[in-house]
Amino acid sequence: MVKKVLVVYYTQTGQLGEIVNSICTPLKAAGDVEVVFEILRPEKPFPFPWTSDQFFQTMPESVKGIPCELEPLTLKGDEHFDLIIAAWQPWYLSPSIPTHALFQHETIRKLMNGKPVITVIGSRNMWVMAQEVVKDYINSSNAKLVGNIILRDKAPNLLGVISIIRWMFQGKKDRYMKIVPPAGISDTDIQAAAAYGPIILEALKQGNYDRLQEKLVAQGAVDVMPEVVMIEKRGIVFFRLWAAFILRKGPFGSESRVVRVRMFKYYLLAVLYLVSPFASLLYEIIRPFRRKTIKKQISLYQSV
Ligand SMILES: Cc1cc2nc3c(=O)[nH]c(=O)nc-3n(C[C@H](O)[C@H](O)[C@H](O)COP(=O)(O)O)c2cc1C
Repeated sequence: MVKKVLVVYYTQTGQLGEIVNSICTPLKAAGDVEVVFEILRPEKPFPFPWTSDQFFQTMPESVKGIPCELEPLTLKGDEHFDLIIAAWQPWYLSPSIPTHALFQHETIRKLMNGKPVITVIGSRNMWVMAQEVVKDYINSSNAKLVGNIILRDKAPNLLGVISIIRWMFQGKKDRYMKIVPPAGISDTDIQAAAAYGPIILEALKQGNYDRLQEKLVAQGAVDVMPEVVMIEKRGIVFFRLWAAFILRKGPFGSESRVVRVRMFKYYLLAVLYLVSPFASLLYEIIRPFRRKTIKKQISLYQSV
């Protein structure tokens, strides 16, 4: 019997599309699997490249879970799928605004009801806190998270910040000044993600997802970096305060909140370049004394 898989996602630059296509290649080649893609399009597209103000304007809505309007979907909600792959990207340690729209969409919630869901994340390197929000969305849709695959930019954190700023604000992805690696997830990693396809295919055919995540993790699907998790845990607390502070001045895109949005921008740059190197250093000092806790943390965030 033909198995049906729904792949639903939004992508701004196309990166997440390349990732899900790579993962799904073995599924499509299987012959007895039908893969349906539902690509989400915001009614008002987010600009690319971004201006600085537009980029930082998206923080409060991402953090507070305020979705954007989407163009009508091709699906109605009464279709049957054996498995749903929901791919998403983090914005500001939170699901992106279109990701909130995805998981809050009535049609998608209906399709997910009672179904196994695999999440695929295309991030820079900070996705852990946001996946906790996504887990809540999946639970509240009465779906079951059975797998999680994460791809990330492998550049050292601060160089990765420079490369993503160039990519997002100038649309340039190439190597910069010899030391800044190309932006985004490497082509090699995207192609290598095809190795997750056969693992998913096996579980799909057996209708048994009990050991899926264990097998995906063994294949390298979830690389948790405890030093980054530490930054995320602290960062999200301050982002929530900033989000509330900015939202008091008006909704998404409004001129009245631009001053506060710019204050947040300088705060973020200062934290990234002045505070986070010391935090990382401190982390390296305490790491040997916290081996057990770190091990626990890694296995917690690798699980579903
Ligand atoms: C406004 C904005 C904020 C972002 N914040 C994060 C973040 O907190 N953590 C992270 O790992 N990546 C972050 N990214 C990178 C995205 O998760 C993603 O990898 C990149 O935008 C490419 O995704 P695409 O497939 O939508 O083009 C951010 C990107 C944007 C545009």
